[in-house]
Amino acid sequence: KRLVVLVSGSGTNLQALLDAIAETGTEGYGAEIVAVGADRDGIEGLARAERAGIPTFVRKVKEYESREAWDAALAEAVAAHEPDLVVSAGFMKIVGKEFLARFGGRFVNTHPALLPSFPGAHGVRDALAYGARVTGCTVHFVDDGVDTGPIIAQGVVEVRDEDDESALHERIKEVERRLLVEVVGRLARNGYRIEGRKVVIQ
Ligand code: GRF
Repeated sequence: KRLVVLVSGSGTNLQALLDAIAETGTEGYGAEIVAVGADRDGIEGLARAERAGIPTFVRKVKEYESREAWDAALAEAVAAHEPDLVVSAGFMKIVGKEFLARFGGRFVNTHPALLPSFPGAHGVRDALAYGARVTGCTVHFVDDGVDTGPIIAQGVVEVRDEDDESALHERIKEVERRLLVEVVGRLARNGYRIEGRKVVIQ
């Protein structure tokens, strides 16, 4: 299966996928990353792709006359690589109708909280501020809401009294990277069905 991965930052989730595929081989893992896209340049996530010899592309919102134009351009850039599955690994933009029309149902996101709790761009900070005793991460299909699509898998992480946002986020990311590698591999190897809010992986 062909994966396109979208990033906006350090790309450690991307790196986890790269390492897993390098370790088990494309056949064993069931997928290869054919391109990495971003909404900004100069990020470590793109550097990781370049070091792995994987084509990259950048589509910046401010370079388009409208959000819809950016969304269509991003969809075009992704479609050019003919992905079977698109993975948002720390991609910090909300995609629109055009993107979802083309990739909905095969577009997966990882979020650093236990959805439906703490959706949005500050899930780690919000869980900490709320006083949650456990939080974690969620891998889900992207739908037309923000972090509201059908949940595929979740991992739980305890919140410690001494945690600040970055310490908690780092601990979440340790679980998140393993979860994403496991889920993406299973989706790629086994195939899946989405039945309402349920995801059935064969
Ligand atoms: C991940 O925790 C992701 O869930 C969140 O931002 C983080 C990205 O980390 N949206 P990285 O870029 O994969 O290191």
